[in-house]
Amino acid sequence: PSTSSAVTLRVNGEKYTLTVDHRTTLLDALRERLDLTGTKKGCDQGQCGACTVLLDGRRAVACLQLAVAAEGREVTTIEGVADGDRLHPVQQAFLDLDGYQCGYCTPGQICSALAVIEEHAAGWPSAATEDVRPEAGAPALTPDEIRERMSGNLCRCGAYTQIVQAVARAADQAKETV
Ligand code: FES
Ligand code: FES
Repeated sequence: PSTSSAVTLRVNGEKYTLTVDHRTTLLDALRERLDLTGTKKGCDQGQCGACTVLLDGRRAVACLQLAVAAEGREVTTIEGVADGDRLHPVQQAFLDLDGYQCGYCTPGQICSALAVIEEHAAGWPSAATEDVRPEAGAPALTPDEIRERMSGNLCRCGAYTQIVQAVARAADQAKETV
């Protein structure tokens, strides 16, 4: 039986059709075949979050997704986050508040943060807030909640303090624009 198939990927609004070995991960397809190297490979086994992308708006670690399984789904990588030359508020917050040192984890942190802000606004439960969430209305995204929701994204440089500040600022801004 054939070990490869044609797959059509929709990435950052563009369509790409390529033939991939069935074992090719979405991460390798993005980086090696589409030259979208913004998505980083840290552990390649689902433990570091460096490869986080959005799949139909929800975060996913691209090293644990097969490229063929992404057929028909909308993939957003860090290259698709800005609006032309205008940075997304989450990117701007990381820049302004020094939310990185080497920057290797940053694309994954930013993709994760985008989803975290949405998850919080939608009232998805979090271990850090289950007991304190009021009946109605989303409270501010607290540092504890940010740390808990972002816990799948490791930073070997230890920029966590500034990452938390950046996510908090971007979440506040998103709330103001609703
Ligand atoms: Fe995917 Fe580490 S490279 S989680
Ligand atoms: Fe270096 Fe996070 S900024 S790993």
